[in-house]
Amino acid sequence: MPLSRRPTLTQYLIEQRRRFPQASGELNALILDVSIACKAIAQQVALGSLVNLPVAGATNVQGEVQKPLDVVSNEMLLRQNEWSGHLAGMASEEMDEPYPIPSQYPRGKYLLVFDPLDGSSNIDVNVSVGSIFSILRTPDEVVKSGRDVTEADFMQPGSTQVAAGYAIYGPATMLVLTVGYGVAGFTLDPALGEFKLTHPDMQVSQDTNEFAINSSNSRFWEPPVKRYVDECLAGSNGPRGKDFNMRWIASMVAEAHRILMRGGVFLYPRDNKDLARNGRLRLLYEASPVGMIMEQAGGRCSTGRQAILGVVPTALHQRIGLIFGSKNEVERIENYHRDPAKRDAPNPLFVERGLFRD
Ligand code: F6P
Ligand code: MN
Repeated sequence: MPLSRRPTLTQYLIEQRRRFPQASGELNALILDVSIACKAIAQQVALGSLVNLPVAGATNVQGEVQKPLDVVSNEMLLRQNEWSGHLAGMASEEMDEPYPIPSQYPRGKYLLVFDPLDGSSNIDVNVSVGSIFSILRTPDEVVKSGRDVTEADFMQPGSTQVAAGYAIYGPATMLVLTVGYGVAGFTLDPALGEFKLTHPDMQVSQDTNEFAINSSNSRFWEPPVKRYVDECLAGSNGPRGKDFNMRWIASMVAEAHRILMRGGVFLYPRDNKDLARNGRLRLLYEASPVGMIMEQAGGRCSTGRQAILGVVPTALHQRIGLIFGSKNEVERIENYHRDPAKRDAPNPLFVERGLFRD
């Protein structure tokens, strides 16, 4: 299809809204504001080291060093979304506390939660990064009273998300979005400054022979994860009977995008590295939105023990074990977690085949 005939993000959203004649258009307006912030972030990211010099001593709530671009991206999302009247509050990886919409602006019926620059360690080496966001409803009582949002107002499971999406800043900038009716991908036309619909119905393939995990943590993995990876590594000689490929970008958004495009499974599981934290990635603004996107694309997203979308958060910056991607593969890993007999022992098939080796 010629580029000029591809629908824009605005057109796509208007068409989605026609499903709900009573909808006010606020969600659309909110998503468009998020997309404008993403375009602005894309421009900054493209300047690379021209703008991203370290800020001495600045760390975020999780003790990670903050880069100017983390802070700049956070500001861009805040400023672009605080004035419109669609939100009651925002929360971000880069802010310790929730951000209530300042009193000079009207407050609205949605909450916006985001990681403004995911995988930001990749900035220094000019590798893809992204922004990821989740849209929740403001609790009725907050809408009625108009009070400031608190952490408790964000403690909603991923299954209640109204929309979720990410922008990936790679060789091309893309926005991938779900409003609950499948997943659509848009590519930024830099000449027009518009996101154009290039991937109308993104689907995650059910099967894959590609996995992604930071294997430097292998000594800390729990037995089901160890078993899964061992079986992949054993390739065509092992119980899976096929060879696997491995990738690790260290940017969850970029890994999610690769998996949407060509299948795969991503694991950042709960492990024994630091017992105080239950995984590496954050539930509200990493796992939940990626969970909605994966499930809407026919994939699966799990802790290994339960669907991510069913987890009720207990803290704004809560971490969680995260496994997502091709459905059959994620279900296999869930089965390994479920089956206590096999969980701690090596796969019997594999042992059997091992007998034929010396
Ligand atoms: O936001 C956290 C994050 O940067 C993810 O994007 C990425 O998947 C992960 O951390 C990388 O972790 P590690 O540095 O352990 O490979
Ligand atoms: Mn992140």
